[in-house]
Amino acid sequence: MAPAYSPVTPAIVQRLEEIVGARNVIFGDAEKLEPYSHDEVADTHYAHLPDAVVRPGTADEIAAVMKLANAERIPVTPRGAGSGLSGGAVPAYGGIVLLTDRLNRILEVDPANLMIVAEPGVVTNEINEVLKPHGLFYAGYPMSLETCYLGGNVAENAGGGKAVKYGVTGRYVVGLEVVTPTGDIVQLGGKRVKDVTGYNLLQLMVGSEGTLGIFTKVTLKLLPLPKASVDLLCLFPTAEAAIGAVPRIMTGSGIIPTAIEFMDKTSVQASCQYLNESMPYQDAGAMLLITVDGADEAQVIRDYDAIGEQCLGAGATEVYVADNANTSERIWKVRRNIAEAFKVISPHQSLEDVVVPIAEIPKVVAGLAEIGAKHDIQIPCYGHAGDGNLHATPVMNPTWTLDQWHERLPGVLTDIYRLVASLGGTISGEHGIGHKRLRYLPLVLEDAQLAMMRAVKLALDPNLILNPGKLVPMPQEA
Ligand code: LAC
Ligand code: ZN
Repeated sequence: MAPAYSPVTPAIVQRLEEIVGARNVIFGDAEKLEPYSHDEVADTHYAHLPDAVVRPGTADEIAAVMKLANAERIPVTPRGAGSGLSGGAVPAYGGIVLLTDRLNRILEVDPANLMIVAEPGVVTNEINEVLKPHGLFYAGYPMSLETCYLGGNVAENAGGGKAVKYGVTGRYVVGLEVVTPTGDIVQLGGKRVKDVTGYNLLQLMVGSEGTLGIFTKVTLKLLPLPKASVDLLCLFPTAEAAIGAVPRIMTGSGIIPTAIEFMDKTSVQASCQYLNESMPYQDAGAMLLITVDGADEAQVIRDYDAIGEQCLGAGATEVYVADNANTSERIWKVRRNIAEAFKVISPHQSLEDVVVPIAEIPKVVAGLAEIGAKHDIQIPCYGHAGDGNLHATPVMNPTWTLDQWHERLPGVLTDIYRLVASLGGTISGEHGIGHKRLRYLPLVLEDAQLAMMRAVKLALDPNLILNPGKLVPMPQEA
């Protein structure tokens, strides 16, 4: 049973227009509302139309929308660029979608404190463009960085391609201005590297998937821009050989690389075809794309030599060195576009982001082959192997009907999730739970943990107004 919500009536629309201005409200036009009914999840199964879309321009306006929504019992779903992959920005119960795209300014670059303050609607890639002249950088590197917003990165605690060395978004978030679900505005953290003053509400907000607050300012910690960077493309005869090299690189080379990305043959070929790009040796069974960066060229060369040795020892047939920015960007572009390429080839697929301890990833690749054979489907695989985080992507068997696919997919996902859980892993490393994985949470979280999550949600959002139906399974949704 769904919580009881009220519809958005013309009278409510009028009040929303008073808060954000008439031109910043969409209502009563299905065609204009449609883009806000889904994110980047390929399956339209998860889509849901909002009743209205609002585009506030300030934290005060957002707070006023939340107060109105609480008084009138209307759900509000915050949305950044809509590039998410678990349905986080989809209004599962209708109501209002609240866009953060007008809050798109970089407010302050503060080199003296190694910090930047930005609004949530800033495109992630812009941050590093602005920082370059200062010799600084922000280490977040989600694969959608050319389109995604910083606010969404924080809400999902986005991972991405450089987490092996630099960790994920949350490591860099030191301050947030947050509009609470009931419409207060709070300042959490600040330009401080250390802070143990009270519960860590700041990091509770990170990865809360738009269920505990709407971010209106983000303060990020910065690092000095590495002076040298090289990419290695290591070719292997099989997926098993490539993935088997990963634990060996992590423990045997004495170096933690910036990135270790795994791509099987299907993934590379799909992306090359989609981009109309050619890669050296795209017929290899699988590849590792490894980045090494550092303070000077000599060190980077020493590091990549050591890593190349490990790859050759693990059965690589070729180690191709990309030491100029153009070639590196071409290869990374192929990597970044795999998900989009699969989506174009088959919208009937489920993009997963399971994660296991790094020593266990060879078992994931072996287990996926067994699960694919058992269910008679292909499960191409790529991802952030150095983090133990793999994008297994079960694709519908083309001989099945759509109904058969929807009937059988939960069995496939349950097998994949049980496999990673048995290895000490979990069901989402970076894309989040949203409503896509809500029903599977009990496979990996115990009842007492789910009860704690519910208690937090109800304490901050007693009317279940902010992004209901996501991340926290409530009893009425069971
Ligand atoms: C990637 C996205 C799908 O790694 O997370 O390409
Ligand atoms: Zn990813």
